Amino acid sequence: MIVKRTGPLKGTMTVPGDKSISHRAIMLGALSEGITEINNFLMGEDCLSTISCFRRLGISIEIAGNNRVTVHGKGLDGLMAPNDVLDVGNSGTTIRLLSGILCGQKFSSVITGDSSIQQRPMGRIITPLNQMGADIKSVSENQKAPLIINGTHFNGLKGIHHHSPVASAQIKSCVLLAGLYADNETKVTEPALSRNHTELMLSEFGASVTVNNYTASVLPRPRLTGRKIRVPGDISSAAYFIAAALIVPNSELRIEKVGINPTRDGIINVCRMMGGDINLENIRKDGGEYVADILVRHSNLKGIEICGSIIPTLIDEIPIIAVLSCFAEGKTIIKDAWELRVKESDRIEVMVRNLSNMGADITATEDGMIINGGRTLHGTVIDSKKDHRIAMSFAVAGLVADGETNIIDDECVNISYPGFFEAIAQ
Ligand code: S3P
Repeated sequence: MIVKRTGPLKGTMTVPGDKSISHRAIMLGALSEGITEINNFLMGEDCLSTISCFRRLGISIEIAGNNRVTVHGKGLDGLMAPNDVLDVGNSGTTIRLLSGILCGQKFSSVITGDSSIQQRPMGRIITPLNQMGADIKSVSENQKAPLIINGTHFNGLKGIHHHSPVASAQIKSCVLLAGLYADNETKVTEPALSRNHTELMLSEFGASVTVNNYTASVLPRPRLTGRKIRVPGDISSAAYFIAAALIVPNSELRIEKVGINPTRDGIINVCRMMGGDINLENIRKDGGEYVADILVRHSNLKGIEICGSIIPTLIDEIPIIAVLSCFAEGKTIIKDAWELRVKESDRIEVMVRNLSNMGADITATEDGMIINGGRTLHGTVIDSKKDHRIAMSFAVAGLVADGETNIIDDECVNISYPGFFEAIAQ
């Protein structure tokens, strides 16, 4: 995709449904009794991978037009042995959350994904699941996918209290979902609060979930009941348009019906701290999640320090924040973001290399980056490493850079935002 400098972004738009919530709606719908009807489901490749895994586990799922999906749930014990390997494609959420569920089943399964998934750390879920008594291991004994999971047969799983070294919703959700099949309460304590969609949605479906600061607990063997879900717009997708409107002069954009769950809204807080003119309007609760219309106007930004407990609330937005920082006056320091090194790509390395190639003053650190804003960026060839968030971040950079920005492997945007380039063009 070639992106060139643009005039102001003006108008009203929506973004596709939230990726994290869409995955969980399929999973909990499958484990519930009765029908779950999901509206505004994200038809991105990652969420379609979750659908195809659950179909392989014997769940009937219908996809209608208009982003509506119907899941015919079969209850906690309704999954069937898959007749083939479960393939999660590029989706870290699918492999980690589904592994927790599979550990509670009586049948065995093998789960894997694409070459990026096979490089991502799975020891972080294997360790607590083994402590629960699950028989899950890495086929190549390298703590990476493919993972082989043997059924629990007679014993079931043990409830544990897991102290996760990382604030990760994927670890927390994996252990809580396994906890549905345990003999006792299962608790997860994390060092900072990661996104809480699993806790919220489990409660909505009828599970008994308690949250106390950074500890979430679930009681085993709930009776989950199918329900209607409306997925809010994905704030992680809105982030590219928030950033574009902030840095393209004279822009004024309204992005409607975006999820603003406080465990996800770090991008709004950071943009405001940088001096961004952002208003949240029409704030309301829709099915357990807060939603708002976001009004953004072009702003003069300043560099700030971003670290500590805000990091998990904007972990997927750091690539676009790096782009924003190049247009801010002064220095931006991003710390405590080691997790970026083990995402779909090493996002610290890939952002620093590509932004440097565009002329930015940016240095990688072990756990983040340091950016001195104010240099003019020049269009060049961008290697996205097939990472959707990298490709979309550079599409935004290209709107303000001199010359042409040519993004390689741009089709990876379909992982989380099908129609992204059409939306930008519009
Ligand atoms: C996700 C959690 C985050 C995030 C990912 C989606 C989820 O990963 O980066 O895109 O849906 O639970 P971690 O929880 O591992 O940080």
